Amino acid sequence: MRSVPISDTITPQGVQPAEGAAWGKVILLGEHAVVYGRTAVAAAIDRQVCVRLTPRQGSARVAPLEDAPGIAPSLTGGAESDPRLLRALARAADLFRVSLEDVEINITSDLPSSVGLGSSAALSVSLVRALAKWTGNSLEDDVVCSHALDIERIFHGFPSGIDNTVATYGGLVAFRRGQGTRWLTAPRPLPLVIVLGRSSRDTGSVVSSLRERWTAAPDRYEVLFDIIGHIAASGERAISTGDIETLGSLMFQDHAVLRRLGVSTEELDQLVELARRNGALGAKLTGGGGGGAVICLCEKGRTELIEAFCRGGSTAFSADVGAAARVSRCGSATGTQAGLHGQ
Ligand code: MEV
Repeated sequence: MRSVPISDTITPQGVQPAEGAAWGKVILLGEHAVVYGRTAVAAAIDRQVCVRLTPRQGSARVAPLEDAPGIAPSLTGGAESDPRLLRALARAADLFRVSLEDVEINITSDLPSSVGLGSSAALSVSLVRALAKWTGNSLEDDVVCSHALDIERIFHGFPSGIDNTVATYGGLVAFRRGQGTRWLTAPRPLPLVIVLGRSSRDTGSVVSSLRERWTAAPDRYEVLFDIIGHIAASGERAISTGDIETLGSLMFQDHAVLRRLGVSTEELDQLVELARRNGALGAKLTGGGGGGAVICLCEKGRTELIEAFCRGGSTAFSADVGAAARVSRCGSATGTQAGLHGQ
């Protein structure tokens, strides 16, 4: 990691409030295999986590956290119930030589947490951005991204780096660990429906349990990772040429391989089938799996698909991804305080 020039030790007196924000993400193709060096394709979604720091005298306080009502099922029990959140805050504060005693940390978000939409990476990036401002440092995005990866490791052990990359830069990317990021351009935004499963999940444990299975039978899993890598490479071409029928078909194929990896669930499979029956061009789990969200690619009938999910008791919303966008301020989040657990 590059070293960051940090200004002298900070005192709370006279320090202005500082904010940082970052996007959530969807992985369109290639999760899990990306941890093992294959390509994955991901895009930012227009939902953000925002961290606001204000001066504080006395003991450190993190504002109580809740999921965003109406957006996420209540998956979290607050900062106290997830020691990783407090460790992540401490790690971020350490990076900037800030004492947590001096700062009140408010986290707001319209990004559902614990569902594979990148809330821990978005939190990590927004914390780094806020702390950089708080300490009077101006950081390049690549430094922000690298610090955020460091914090992400607290949430899920072996992150590939794709989540913090998208949270930092936004946009649409083809990412391969150790080989950097290719920025993709879709001729037009990709029309998605995102549906949230009811079961809580944790990327770290899904990734480490797959690692155990891979260690026991590497050949079996390497073949599946290769297949996913090929699917993602084909998806990259389909996106660039605007061939969304092919992209959709690749999403279904990817989900089938993710099932074979053992990272899907019955509920996620049912959501994918419901999307297929309702005319989606493609659907798959997104992120770590083991619960969480499904993304569906829909040329037509998005409203009807969302209604079908809602009738089945799920929460669903639409998202257009692939259009260029950048995080500029804490503004587009609805201002709801959000719990952040793992991914
Ligand atoms: C999590 O969003 C995606 C995984 O591939 C883990 C990672 O790449 O860090 C499951």
